[in-house]
Amino acid sequence: MNILLIGGGGREHALAWKLKQSPELETLYCAPGNAGIFSVATPAPIDVSDSAGVVAFCRKAGIGLVVVGPEAPLVAGLSDDLRAAGIPVSGASKAAAQLEASKSFTKAICDERGIPTAAYGYFKDRASALAYVRAQGTPLVVKADGLAAGKGVIMCETLAEAEAAIETCFGGAFGESGNSVVIEEMLVGEEASFFALCDGTRALPLASAQDYKRAHDGDTGLNTGGMGCVSPAPMMIPALQDQIMREIITPTLDAMRARGTPFQGVLYAGLMIAAQGPKLIEYNVRFGDPECQVLMLRLKSDLLPALKAAAAGDVSAIQLEWSQDAATTVVMAANGYPGDYRKGTVICGLDGAGKLPGATVFHAGTSAGCAGEILAAGGRVLNVSAVGKDAEEARARAYAAVDAIEWPSGFCRRDIGWRSLNRKAAP
Ligand code: AMP
Ligand code: GLY
Repeated sequence: MNILLIGGGGREHALAWKLKQSPELETLYCAPGNAGIFSVATPAPIDVSDSAGVVAFCRKAGIGLVVVGPEAPLVAGLSDDLRAAGIPVSGASKAAAQLEASKSFTKAICDERGIPTAAYGYFKDRASALAYVRAQGTPLVVKADGLAAGKGVIMCETLAEAEAAIETCFGGAFGESGNSVVIEEMLVGEEASFFALCDGTRALPLASAQDYKRAHDGDTGLNTGGMGCVSPAPMMIPALQDQIMREIITPTLDAMRARGTPFQGVLYAGLMIAAQGPKLIEYNVRFGDPECQVLMLRLKSDLLPALKAAAAGDVSAIQLEWSQDAATTVVMAANGYPGDYRKGTVICGLDGAGKLPGATVFHAGTSAGCAGEILAAGGRVLNVSAVGKDAEEARARAYAAVDAIEWPSGFCRRDIGWRSLNRKAAP
């Protein structure tokens, strides 16, 4: 089967790496791709925002499945256009992508189905939002309703902060996404991410991960797209996974189907594991980045038949086997990220790093220079990953690979995985 993979980050490099191992794969195409992806995939000469062009390419190249990595093409409706053209696609429809694109939509689903989540209010104007926070008191979390590139969530410890956050949203800082806000109670507990592959009716549990969002060691600095992560999430035991499936994922799928907008594709639940049990913080309608990287390293089964089955609407015959090993990804980012950073700096030592025990280096923002050298071409640039018999070994191996890479213009956190190690030391 020929596959077209859409995306160009570390997530898509991990998907390409995994799909490439499938005996069912013939040619893997990708757009827009990156230097790492193009070491295993053929560039597809398409603009992913032009659905008609993507459909035409799929017909010409005999594509049997399109795999969409990021949320933007899903929210824009690429999956709908492909399905309308009869091309199988692993990715949510535009209507189902509302689970990520609208926080109030997801909250309404939680209300409807009794899905555990933070108590909240939803407001379309400043005055009623301000009245709510004054009545409610802090701490609170103020969220722009729509997509805001990961910046639309403001944690507020004081009333002054909450008032300022409301002003930020309605003042236009997030464009139309801030025209309405969700204001939530601040949940207490430990966060985890959980992934399921859905066929519209059924959900196949995948695995869990725990990410490290802040830019610097000790969970300091600005929030980022993710500076590293581990799989499994340290607290994830089978009973908790069953509870997440039963109380959160399955009722969500039921609600989406009942609305006539079934969810097909990868559903990513951001969770707070509180003393009373798991609570939904948010949904994403895709694999996480870098969460996908650690999941792919632990997936022993062939990914291709699973994605194909989800796209065809029946995952009931799919059984996935996961390694008992732990996996860790350390993100190497350009100095200055998530603020301003330079592009075009040269990275050396990648081949040696990728050959160290347990290590795999996925590319995120990279491009190939004229002489084949690897250049930094984005903020998050490399996902230096490793598997090991436990979290400690995976982490040591990932950092051994980091240390083999020569890139003075980049940095990484040195403490990715600390929550898993602390957990192991606990009684
Ligand atoms: P989101 O974009 O909704 O995932 O939020 C980004 C991050 O904000 C989450 O990963 C949490 O760390 C934090 N967060 C969001 N909502 C809450 C909440 N109600 N309570 C505590 N933390 C939250
Ligand atoms: N790493 C967080 C995300 O992919 O949304």
